Amino acid sequence: MKDAAPETAPETFYLKDYTPFGFEVQSVELTFRLAPGATRVQSRIHFAPKPGAANPEFFLHGEQLSLISAAVDGAPVTPTLTEGGLTCNVPDQPFVWEAEVEIDPQGNTALEGLYMSNGMYCTQCEAEGFRKITYYPDRPDVMSTFKVRIEGDEPVKLSNGNPTASGAGWAEWHDPWPKPAYLFALVAGDLVNHPDSFTTMSGKEVELNIWVRPGDEGKCAFGMEALKKSMKWDEDAYGREYDLDIFNIVAVDDFNMGAMENKGLNIFNSSCVLASPETSTDANFERIEAIIAHEYFHNWTGNRITCRDWFQLCLKEGLTVFRDAQFTADMRSAPVKRISDVIDLRARQFPEDGGPLAHPVRPEQFQEINNFYTATIYEKGAEVIGMLKRLVGDEDYAKAVTLYFDRHDGQACTIEDWLKVFEDATGRDLSQFKRWYSQAGTPHLKVSEDYADGTYTLTFEQSTPPTPGQPDKDPRVIPIAVGLLGPNGDEVCATRVLEMTEAKQSFTFDGLAAKPVPSILREFSAPVILERETSNAERAFLLAHDTDPFNRWEAGNALAREARVAMVLEGAAPDADYLDALQKLLRDDSQDPAFRALVLSPPSQSDIAQTLFERGHVPDPQKIFDAAETFAQTLAQQLADSLPRLYADTTVSGAYSPDAISSGKRDLNGRILSLLTRLDGGQQAARQYEDADNMTQQYAALTCLLKAEKGDAQSQAFFEQWKGDRLVMDKWFALQIASAAPETAASVARDLTQHELFTLKNPNRFRAVMGALAGHHAGFHHASGAGYRLLAENLIALDKLNPQTTARMCAAFQTWKRYDADRQALIRTELERIAGTEGLSRDTTEMVTRILD
Ligand code: PHE
Ligand code: ZN
Repeated sequence: MKDAAPETAPETFYLKDYTPFGFEVQSVELTFRLAPGATRVQSRIHFAPKPGAANPEFFLHGEQLSLISAAVDGAPVTPTLTEGGLTCNVPDQPFVWEAEVEIDPQGNTALEGLYMSNGMYCTQCEAEGFRKITYYPDRPDVMSTFKVRIEGDEPVKLSNGNPTASGAGWAEWHDPWPKPAYLFALVAGDLVNHPDSFTTMSGKEVELNIWVRPGDEGKCAFGMEALKKSMKWDEDAYGREYDLDIFNIVAVDDFNMGAMENKGLNIFNSSCVLASPETSTDANFERIEAIIAHEYFHNWTGNRITCRDWFQLCLKEGLTVFRDAQFTADMRSAPVKRISDVIDLRARQFPEDGGPLAHPVRPEQFQEINNFYTATIYEKGAEVIGMLKRLVGDEDYAKAVTLYFDRHDGQACTIEDWLKVFEDATGRDLSQFKRWYSQAGTPHLKVSEDYADGTYTLTFEQSTPPTPGQPDKDPRVIPIAVGLLGPNGDEVCATRVLEMTEAKQSFTFDGLAAKPVPSILREFSAPVILERETSNAERAFLLAHDTDPFNRWEAGNALAREARVAMVLEGAAPDADYLDALQKLLRDDSQDPAFRALVLSPPSQSDIAQTLFERGHVPDPQKIFDAAETFAQTLAQQLADSLPRLYADTTVSGAYSPDAISSGKRDLNGRILSLLTRLDGGQQAARQYEDADNMTQQYAALTCLLKAEKGDAQSQAFFEQWKGDRLVMDKWFALQIASAAPETAASVARDLTQHELFTLKNPNRFRAVMGALAGHHAGFHHASGAGYRLLAENLIALDKLNPQTTARMCAAFQTWKRYDADRQALIRTELERIAGTEGLSRDTTEMVTRILD
């Protein structure tokens, strides 16, 4: 521990300290008597001491509970209440523990445990929320069946598993599959359902429901289709069948995260399940499909096989993200999905891995586990599985995963178990590969090349910068997918996966007639930063000829980045060759519109800041903003003659459908509209706004108009039209900020926090405003420091209500060391202000401390 640590310094938990619980839980029975301010929870639990257990203490977690009574084998007992739980003397043979506690769902603004959202009861137990419901060994390696009785007047009462009985004012559920407490769920309220059914591969009929607030029934059909597709896909791709008679999804307005995979009763942030053409954009539809799939896939990767402890979180999350990405690739366009995922990885995971919050995919310590639901655990965790699959091949991947399900069904597992099935199925030694789980930081991969007498040599050097607690790194296994193109653009060597294991290593290609152009890291075969000196001419060549769509996009992306960097550093004009290449691509109808839209979408301003920082410059957010504006303006002017026709050609008419083709086309169309708006003063956008019969086009038009400062009337109309729809209003709030100029973004955001529809109690609304502010690079980092101050003030206010969402939002400050001394000083002041707040939560304390270190 560091010196001067305050007495109340939160406890740190270590992977190396793992010890199993000393008792087995044989069954759990719970009775809930629902009342908003005083719900009673009775528990009746069969425990059995484990013979020879290393940890025989009977400790049950419990937080914010009022203990009414407790009994062991029917005899009243008086447990010792400790910080975070209780201990009690218990027999050294199997016994029954009974307790009654009172909890306050109404007063629960942290949205963890049992809480109320719009008059509806719901729970969130991952990671450690069950201990706010009753006393229990709240750890994922304690698994049990659950019987639940819910008493209350609410017309709908749901829990995990199958419904067993119900009557006036009560309902009973039984979950036959042993599960950890974090998968427990209960919902009760005035809900309506969108029903359907699915027949599994073995012919069992499963009842499906999506439960929503009255009025939202019309927004369930898309989610239901996505669920059925997911169930089918998991049977076809992984041989996994659903295992209960019923599968329920519930939409909840107040939710800290996206959604939760509770056994048989998935609970969703309403933004991640409700969809209609009028209220949801194409991007919303795609995300909803992916999240429904993700939560459903957890039924096997997470629920049937769960995690031994929370250090193993990536075991379920990395694998399930990997699976949902495979699903989306199959349902939509695989290259487009891959490119979008890499954009997202670079935007969210790379900064994390390169900053003060860096941690391994499997962390070795934490204070608050809620702070580790990160891009590293999820997205890098999925990348690691992608690399594993690439290294062993598709067939062996399938063998190993089948072995995983066979061997570990019903267990709480570790990364060691996961890697062992790959070793056993393939005979490979994965000890070096395991470093991907233990070492934080993004490896840099330097490439040099050599050509002589028909032999081409690629030499790679890997190195990973220090990360907190890990100054030195060992070389990792890196699968590098490489193809070679001849001078005429033909592929002379198809994709080959080079397996790099050394710090420095060369690979040769023989029999080449001429020096080839290499296409390296195809499909982004490893989450690394590639460093290679190359020319814009070669990038343009790859953009035109590469057979790998990812690398074609990557070449365009590199051109865009170099052009932007030159503009910022040297005041250069937008690169003419790049503008040329873009125009060609834009007009090339043979190319997938979604792909064209991706090439046309510029690197983010934060991305440019990161690039500048990596190259030893101090990024100036305002200059980066100006360069983006100049570039778009120049592109628009150069395309002036063709924009109206391009706009017309890409306009999707007819009944709205969220399919991949139409949405790709609308994406491209929206980007063209934004260029066009720079020239026509918003005429076309205003027309589109009037004509739009779906949110994608309405929102795209409004975005263009607001950016052009021509959208006041439409923004007002939009507000009037949608003020009754929370999810659409989130878009409206966010857009006000996203479209503001850098110097006004913070004051626009400040005004919005005074808006009558702003509330700290709804995480979606908070994220809409504060997330949009943090996402406005030049606005958030405006030299005045107003953005930093506003965020800090709101984090301090929110922390009192909802530590989890506050802590996550602190990450907006994680890149602070990129910037100049003045900005760093401003940010430090705010971070210290947050850190010095009296009564600051453990969640936020940990985040701010790590960022400041
Ligand atoms: N386990 C959820 C998922 O990834 C995420 C989550 C974590 C939700 C913690 C709520 C609380 O699917
Ligand atoms: Zn998940």
